Amino acid sequence: MPTSSPLFPEAASTIAGRVDALYFFLIGLTVFFSVLIAGLIIYCAIRFRRRSPREVGQKMHAHYGLEATWTVIPLAITMFLFVWASRVYVEMVRPPDETLNIYVVGKQWMWKFQHLDGQREINELHVPVDRDVKLIATSEDVIHDFFVPAFRVKVDVIPGRYVSIWFRSTKAGRYRLFCAEYCGTKHSGMTGEVVVMDPPAYQAWLSGGATQQTLSEAGQQLFSDLACNTCHRADLKGRGPVLEGVFGQAVTLQSGEKVVADEAYIRESILNPAAKITAGYQPIMPTFQGQVSEEQLLALVEYVKSLHK
Ligand code: CUA
Repeated sequence: MPTSSPLFPEAASTIAGRVDALYFFLIGLTVFFSVLIAGLIIYCAIRFRRRSPREVGQKMHAHYGLEATWTVIPLAITMFLFVWASRVYVEMVRPPDETLNIYVVGKQWMWKFQHLDGQREINELHVPVDRDVKLIATSEDVIHDFFVPAFRVKVDVIPGRYVSIWFRSTKAGRYRLFCAEYCGTKHSGMTGEVVVMDPPAYQAWLSGGATQQTLSEAGQQLFSDLACNTCHRADLKGRGPVLEGVFGQAVTLQSGEKVVADEAYIRESILNPAAKITAGYQPIMPTFQGQVSEEQLLALVEYVKSLHK
C-alpha cells in the first residue's frame, strides 16, 4: 500500500489500514467489472454484428441458469461488502471504554479544542501517540466536518448536538486537519493540524499550562456563578435534582420514560430544561440559552460528569 503520495494520504491510525483495504477492494472490484462489461460489449458488438442488410436476428430463448448466475454472484458480493464495511464502520464509531476525551467546537472558521486539563487550542490539536483518543464535537454555528485524512477519521459536526469519534494514532508527527463540509466563504481556510507526540513530549506539553483551571474546575466555578448550586444541591434539600452520580445513569422522567444522562442530555437540560423533567420535580428551571457559550456548556457538562456520590 502506498505510504504517502499526493493522491493518497499517509496512514497514521489503527483504523487506517482497514479502511484502505476496503477502499482498494472496492476499486479493484469496480475496475474488474468495468473492464469485463466494456470488453463484453465490444466483443459482442463485433461477434454478433449484422453481416448483410437483409439479415434477421435469431430468436432468443431464456437461459435460467445464466439469469440465476448473474443474480446470485452480485448478491453474494454486495452482501460480503455489506458485512465487511459494517464491521469497519462499527469499529470506527464505537470508542473503546478507556479513552482520552477531548472536546471540539467548530466555528466559522476555526476549530477550537478543549482538553480536560484546561488547555485550549485553536486549529492545532496535541494528542499522545498510541492512546485511544475520543473527540466529542459540536458546532456553535453551522454544520462543519472534522476530517483528518491520515487517520481516516471524518465526522459531521452539528450545532446543537454532540457527536463523537475516536482514533488511535500510530506514529508521531503532524497531520493536516480539514473542514470537509462547505460552511461559508472561508470554509477552505478552516484547516489545522493534529500534532501527535510521544508520551513524554505530550506530558511536557500538557504541563506547559499547569497553572490554569481544569475543565471541570472551570465548570464548577460557572456552576456557582450562574447560581446553579442554589437549586442543585447534594443534600436533597434543593429544588432541582441532585446531580452527584447522575452522569451515565438512567433518569426517570415525569412521563415515566427513562433516559440516560449523557453529555447530550445535560446540554439539553441546561438550554431547554423543560424538555425532559425528572420525575418528582417541578419545571421551574430557567433556560440558559444565549447565556452560556458552547465552551461553557462543555465545562458544565464536564463538571457534572465529575460529580460522584
Ligand atoms: Cu467549517 Cu467548512
